[in-house]
Amino acid sequence: MRSLFASLLLLAGTATALNNGLAQTPQMGWNSWNKFACNVSESLIRQTADKLTELGLDKLGYEYVNIDDCWMLTERDAEGHMIPDPQTFPSGMRALGDYIHSKGLKFGVYSSAGNYTCEGRAGSLYHEDVDAQDWASYGVDYLKYDNCYNENVPATVRYPLMRDALNKTGRPIFYSICNWGNEGTVGWGKETGNSWRTTMDIKAIWPSIQYNFRVNSEHPEIAGPGGWNDPDMLEIGNNWLTLAQEKTHFALWSIVKAPLILGCDLDKISAESFAIISNKELIDINQDPLGVQGTCKVSCSAYDIYKGTPQVYSGPLANGDTAVVVVNWGLFDYGEFEFDLGMVGASQNGESVIVRDLFAHEDLGTFSGTYKIAGIPAYGSHAFRLRKAAAAEGFMQ
Ligand SMILES: *[C@@H]1O[C@H](CO)[C@@H](O)[C@H](O)[C@H]1NC(C)=O
Ligand SMILES: *[C@@H]1O[C@H](CO)[C@@H](O)[C@H](O)[C@H]1NC(C)=O
Ligand SMILES: *[C@@H]1O[C@H](CO)[C@@H](O)[C@H](O)[C@H]1NC(C)=O
Repeated sequence: MRSLFASLLLLAGTATALNNGLAQTPQMGWNSWNKFACNVSESLIRQTADKLTELGLDKLGYEYVNIDDCWMLTERDAEGHMIPDPQTFPSGMRALGDYIHSKGLKFGVYSSAGNYTCEGRAGSLYHEDVDAQDWASYGVDYLKYDNCYNENVPATVRYPLMRDALNKTGRPIFYSICNWGNEGTVGWGKETGNSWRTTMDIKAIWPSIQYNFRVNSEHPEIAGPGGWNDPDMLEIGNNWLTLAQEKTHFALWSIVKAPLILGCDLDKISAESFAIISNKELIDINQDPLGVQGTCKVSCSAYDIYKGTPQVYSGPLANGDTAVVVVNWGLFDYGEFEFDLGMVGASQNGESVIVRDLFAHEDLGTFSGTYKIAGIPAYGSHAFRLRKAAAAEGFMQ
């Protein structure tokens, strides 16, 4: 029989782990901030929900429709409740949640673990319970929780307060922690949230994407079903990145199991950008049930990046395949580049593997030892799925 002490320890253990059943794979959806910043309204959110389903993005897994900052006023009402902005959200949040749900999608809101949000609206610090209850009553499924006006109260106090308030509502609400990687987030993120930002906000410029990706790669071991490292939302479709950069952004976010949260105007997205965000073979890598964050295997030092040598990231997949992304961070096109199939984990004893190109959507042939790429454009990448040739034959029999 278990001792009382052991039972208490076990209880303490379950109480500190976030266990809301969500985030078995990285979250997918859309958020208003990257494109619209403070210009949010119920019409924008409804149109986006319509567009997600019209374009079939919901079928690919993009399910959360998330309003970022500015949906609420700065003041609270006499009973201490947040007030949704009556100018921009005249029908109220419950009606908006119902509309999003009627489309088979999920509803997300935003607040800050501080006195105010970053745009100076009401924040939730020390109002956690009333806010969480209100959001649950709106039918909210997702909270992005920012870090502005935090009054220097430690993150390890502020973020668990909201975790527990969300839990008390009884409604499973995805908890996306956005404290910019400060205060050692990677040490407490997993027991606190379903994802945790590892860096400052992403900007639609190449150095920001490179920087966020690199910092986010420092602790792959903590990511997994239930909770994910978050290098911030996607900038694809905003016409700020080149097409090569957009492809690399999506391939890298996919292989490191980053949240795939779109941040563009879905009414205006180009056909080329749409092809990138709807690449099902890359989404399958991101949503693979094994949930292992891909890591750098070839040319991983800062000096390699400085020299402009392409880097190779890889990670195992649930069915025994291996996902690979080869990235040329540099300003110049790179010529022939060869990598070792053993080093990426695709073949342990020199067995041959079938290489599938995840941008061209075709098998490129069977290879052993190494695989050679003819060239990689500036800021460009190749994405592959490697499967053991023997396994494939066995499967055919
Ligand atoms: C609340 O936390 C408990 C303990 O971790 C967990 O079993 C339960 O599923 C959580 N409920 C919700 C709604 O998150
Ligand atoms: C928000 O709207 C204002 C006023 O129309 C405009 O000046 C501003 O550029 C908009 N910001 C974004 C990010 O769309
Ligand atoms: C933040 O809120 C707390 C109480 O909730 C209050 O004591 C404090 O003065 C506020 N700080 C600012 C800068 O408004």
